[in-house]
Amino acid sequence: MTLLFGLLTFAATSGLTLTCFAETPEELFARKLLPVLERDCQGCHGPAKAQSKLDLSTREALVKGGARGTALVPGKPEQSLLIHVLEGRNKLQMPPGDESKKLPPDVIAAFRTWVDAGAPWPQRKAEASGDYKAEDLWAFRPLRPFDDKKRIDDFINARLAERGLSPAPKADRRTLIRRATIDLTGLPPTLEEVDAFVGDKYPKAWENLLERLLASPRYGERWGRQWLDVVRYADTSGYSNDFERPNAWRYRDYVIRSFNSDKPYDRFIREQIAGDELFPGNPEAVIATGFLRAGPWEHTGMSVAAVTRQSFLDDVTHATAATFLGLTLGCARCHDHKFDPIPTREYYRMQAIFATTEFARPKLPFLPNQNV
Ligand code: HEC
Ligand code: HEC
Repeated sequence: MTLLFGLLTFAATSGLTLTCFAETPEELFARKLLPVLERDCQGCHGPAKAQSKLDLSTREALVKGGARGTALVPGKPEQSLLIHVLEGRNKLQMPPGDESKKLPPDVIAAFRTWVDAGAPWPQRKAEASGDYKAEDLWAFRPLRPFDDKKRIDDFINARLAERGLSPAPKADRRTLIRRATIDLTGLPPTLEEVDAFVGDKYPKAWENLLERLLASPRYGERWGRQWLDVVRYADTSGYSNDFERPNAWRYRDYVIRSFNSDKPYDRFIREQIAGDELFPGNPEAVIATGFLRAGPWEHTGMSVAAVTRQSFLDDVTHATAATFLGLTLGCARCHDHKFDPIPTREYYRMQAIFATTEFARPKLPFLPNQNV
């Protein structure tokens, strides 16, 4: 500890760099030289305004050079006009002006080292921030068809056998109908239903029971609730006022209807994200976009409209990703994450999809079968 501290102090006071932490030429350029070019040169030598026809914003442009020809010969500082002007030789000094405008000697020396090393110009990390590759993430792999040979039962039985256990006995018919009915409708079966099933010796009794339960309107009510949880559904707005949302139930009923009518999942997704645009004039599809409006919301006399609006956009961006991509996005709102595949830049690209969304209260007729 003391030794390390001593070393660091020595390095700091003597102006030496610790060679064990030596920078690569790329790092040297990115940390020390690029900021100098941006601050001290590009105001006069950029793509828009290029004094003496010299653009200093890319390596290619530097090699191409200005009125006097190439300004950079990678690997050869002596032949690079760039180094000559920084050192103020041949009466041409950059940045222009008297001696006091010259860059500090260590910066000029660093430019020399960099040219000597071949003048690498690393591109800014443009896209992905994460240390992951998309193909390594299970969430981004294409779905594989279910492998019939590896049934869940086989996994369970294998572990039971490992521990010398045997499976529980098969459920009797009374238990079976009770489980199936509660699972699919959320309600217990009636006594008549239990008796009918227990007495039903027809080989397809079990299939018939499941079909009956799946066809029951209670099925959509029971399983629609799971979806309503996924999409953060609520009948009130949240926050301190928690105002009621008198029309939220129309989205709730839309979900139940979708489950009960076996709506294909891709259609279900489209309706909720962009039903108003994809299926204009279809009241059902417009009600579906209630998904976008289902998040928490508060706008009081003390709120700043732009902030409320931004909270809405953040909610909708995050909810869409969490619901339909199975991917949480909220953290990328403020910073890139070392271990996240979606950087902040992409977060706002995704948000841009919703940026034109405005709230509206269109008149939407009730469906003929709606009991209102
Ligand atoms: C205030 C504007 C200004 C700034 C800042 C400036 N330059 Fe220049 N630069 C010029 C002008 C004007 C010329 C042309 C001078 C001449 O031909 O006598 C020039 C010429 C050059 C040339 C010669 C180009 C050629 O082929 O004629 C190089 C190389 C150069 N500058 C590099 C730099 C570098 C590197 C920096 C930053 C450290 C820099 N300049 C900052 C204005 C500027
Ligand atoms: C509203 C903006 C915002 C959101 C959303 C956000 N962060 Fe941050 N995060 C920051 C800020 C600002 C800092 C820097 C704080 C500081 O310097 O003290 C930070 C710092 C961090 C750090 C420490 C980084 C370091 O190098 O020390 C971690 C880890 C982190 N955030 C993780 C997360 C995670 C995980 C999420 C999502 C659950 C998240 N952040 C969401 C703004 C945010």
